Amino acid sequence: MTTAARIDESLRIILKHQAASGAYIASPHFRPYQYAWLRDGTFTAYAMNRAGQHDSARRFYRWCDSVIRKYADKARAAIAAVQAGRSTGGNEQFLHTRYTVDGDEVAGEWGSFQLDGYGTWLWGLAEHVRLSSDYGLVQELRPSIDLTLDYLRTCWQLSNYDCWEEVGDRQHPATMAAIFGGVTAIAGHVPQRAAELTFLGSSIRRFVIESGTADGKFVKSLGNPAVDASLLWIAVPFGLVGADDPLMARTVAAIERELLAGRGVHRYATDTYYGGGQWPLLSAWLGWYHVRTGRRAEAEDIFRWIEEQWLPAGLPEQVQEHLLAPDAYGYWVAKEGTPAVPLLWSHAMYVVLAAELGLLAPARSEGQHKD
Ligand code: BGC
Repeated sequence: MTTAARIDESLRIILKHQAASGAYIASPHFRPYQYAWLRDGTFTAYAMNRAGQHDSARRFYRWCDSVIRKYADKARAAIAAVQAGRSTGGNEQFLHTRYTVDGDEVAGEWGSFQLDGYGTWLWGLAEHVRLSSDYGLVQELRPSIDLTLDYLRTCWQLSNYDCWEEVGDRQHPATMAAIFGGVTAIAGHVPQRAAELTFLGSSIRRFVIESGTADGKFVKSLGNPAVDASLLWIAVPFGLVGADDPLMARTVAAIERELLAGRGVHRYATDTYYGGGQWPLLSAWLGWYHVRTGRRAEAEDIFRWIEEQWLPAGLPEQVQEHLLAPDAYGYWVAKEGTPAVPLLWSHAMYVVLAAELGLLAPARSEGQHKD
């Protein structure tokens, strides 16, 4: 298959698994992922914007709006409880990270209190407007934007589950970067709150730099100095520091040293989920960072590696070329079946890297408004 065909195939897979409600299903054939996440969905919408498919992205943001409206009372109650010091820290008190495609919470035990997606959707919405000039959408979604901002302003320093849905009792620099990214990106669209949001953004930034670092690098979680590939997000795309910032450069050097096997990137060194394989979406992220720091040849190399991981059903969540915990692989296969494929987020990051490398056909490039 050519690169052009793989890009088309990625967009086709994404559209096929976008529900009528606008939600993107994380992975249609993998039971635990037959839901829609704010995190996966926003990066999927972002890829669609980069490919000129603005209508798909708009439908996703309207779905986010419908979810936040549906759970607005819950969000307000959580805000009031935290402000009154009544927060138990209980998972269930807070907005969830994933929903059914109809925007309902999913029953059952899950590390559902994750704040990153609430920053991420605001960042993605601002990108949608930048790439498609869809200014009216911000006005339409304004109540949900305001409520999300109130929620994040109140909750950003609470411990919550990280983007891998683990470690719910700590604070995570990558999560805080997503909140920073959302707050600062949307600030330009809500001028009435500009001063408040500038202050909030600089408070988050100061906190992450002062408390979320050790030995000149960002850390996986406060109190855990390990490296995690999601730390790439701090610079790209959330811009809490620049890609060339020494803190970032040392963090990426650690990711390359400790988490890169060949051209595949692991999540973190002690990962045991499906044996701790390499995640194409994280490889794409490293490629994205490389493009932004002038290391294009390495980004191209990574892009080719992702193409080599293509399975008949599309791109998987993770591959088994190099496992960190091979003994754990069989346990997960017995429990949930083989790893998720296709994973929409993997396809999305492939498209984002293609866009960064200038490989999208002109009709698909970001300046074009297809709809
Ligand atoms: C990942 C999350 C992701 C979810 C759905 C989980 O295994 O850790 O980051 O949102 O799958 O793709």
